[in-house]
Amino acid sequence: MKKSQTPPVTGFSKLSKEAKIEWLVSHYAENPSDSFNMLKGYWHARPEVQRLHDEFIENTISNYYLPFGVAPNFNINGKMYTIPFAIEESSVVAAAAKSATFWLDRGGFKAEVLGMVKMGHVHFLWSGTSFETLNQIFEQNRERLFTATESITKNMRARGGGILNMHLVDKTQEEVDYYQLEVRFDTRDSMGANFINSCLETLAKEWKDIVAEQHEMPITVVMSILSNFTPECVVRAEVSCKIEDINEGSGIDNQEFADKFVRAIRIAKAEPYRAVTHNKGIMNGVDAVIIATGNDFRATEACAHAYAAKDGRYTSLSHAEIKDGNFRFWIDLPLSVGTVGGIISLHPMVKFAHELLGNPSAEELMQIAAVAGLAQNFSAVRSLITSGIQKGHMKMHLLNILNQLEATENEKKEIVAYFKDKVVSFSAAVEIFSKLRGIPVTQAQKAH
Ligand code: MEV
Repeated sequence: MKKSQTPPVTGFSKLSKEAKIEWLVSHYAENPSDSFNMLKGYWHARPEVQRLHDEFIENTISNYYLPFGVAPNFNINGKMYTIPFAIEESSVVAAAAKSATFWLDRGGFKAEVLGMVKMGHVHFLWSGTSFETLNQIFEQNRERLFTATESITKNMRARGGGILNMHLVDKTQEEVDYYQLEVRFDTRDSMGANFINSCLETLAKEWKDIVAEQHEMPITVVMSILSNFTPECVVRAEVSCKIEDINEGSGIDNQEFADKFVRAIRIAKAEPYRAVTHNKGIMNGVDAVIIATGNDFRATEACAHAYAAKDGRYTSLSHAEIKDGNFRFWIDLPLSVGTVGGIISLHPMVKFAHELLGNPSAEELMQIAAVAGLAQNFSAVRSLITSGIQKGHMKMHLLNILNQLEATENEKKEIVAYFKDKVVSFSAAVEIFSKLRGIPVTQAQKAH
């Protein structure tokens, strides 16, 4: 029975975890005691590990599991990796592993970081008349601004990073009285969000004081914040081989495969409807690595799609060409990741993911994540232009369907064997399941 109106609650965050769950299930659950036990059932067996998770966010009531899978056999710049993926979508790890093996025999993946610069802005208003005058004040006080952040940047500078440069930008064409103090950072192996924001807030205060002291027109700081758009923090990943070495395996001729592949990429470049799905496939791989390694997938997503639209039209993030008998497929991806800080040294699974990758630097992790994205994209486009996507996808999804039908382990084994040489669909799976169980199709569907 659905509960109607729930009254507002005060002091919810002060309740114990169990009291929070009790309040929730009593107001929202169909079966309060089942839901209570289910939520508690996902608590970690070791209280100290659970406490860690509880304290990552506010109002934690339980844990939300995602599968943590791995794809071995990635050769990146001559080094072998087994890449961790945290993702719920059935076919992603299988596709990555298939791509890794395919390219292992053809020289592996090459990856290089093209830039590591991150940016942030103090967004401020000023209704003075001459930008030149304001800029002059800025230039005369540049050192004072650097000095103001010295205590914050000390450790980062010792690691070789810090504030790289800053300048004023006149944005009054876009918005009345709007200017920016634009600052560039090198945050080494940390993603750097906290570092950048702390620097920016200090700079904002100092800049406000400077202008108040040196000009009759003060500034109003609107906000100080890093930008998750990092077009100067970019990694390139690529694969290439001679067309005669493609031997893709689905019976299609090598040249035809290469031509069709390049055409598919050109379609993704030309058509935003396709580009979004194409890039989503790339992000299947990238996000899974980003989540497994404790990085910020929302920032990664926002940035990737802004980059895909950076020339004014949304387009493919990956590129392909045929030149002098060679097939080349590559991606340039802006990625801001960290291998220190955040939850990296706290979350046991995240810690393991880093260990699995040999505790990489941020640059190395950028390369690994971009390769995972390229590998996904290769597998997806390869399937799309040969067998179609559903064959592999539904095969991987079959177990989800059988779990929805509450099939036993033996039934699953038999049905998986049955579909070995057949195309999986939901209705075909229900049909064979009900036949095996000796129940009408409608009864099997009801379980779903
Ligand atoms: C599914 O998650 C991703 C694909 O749609 C990507 C693509 O179409 O390229 C298969």
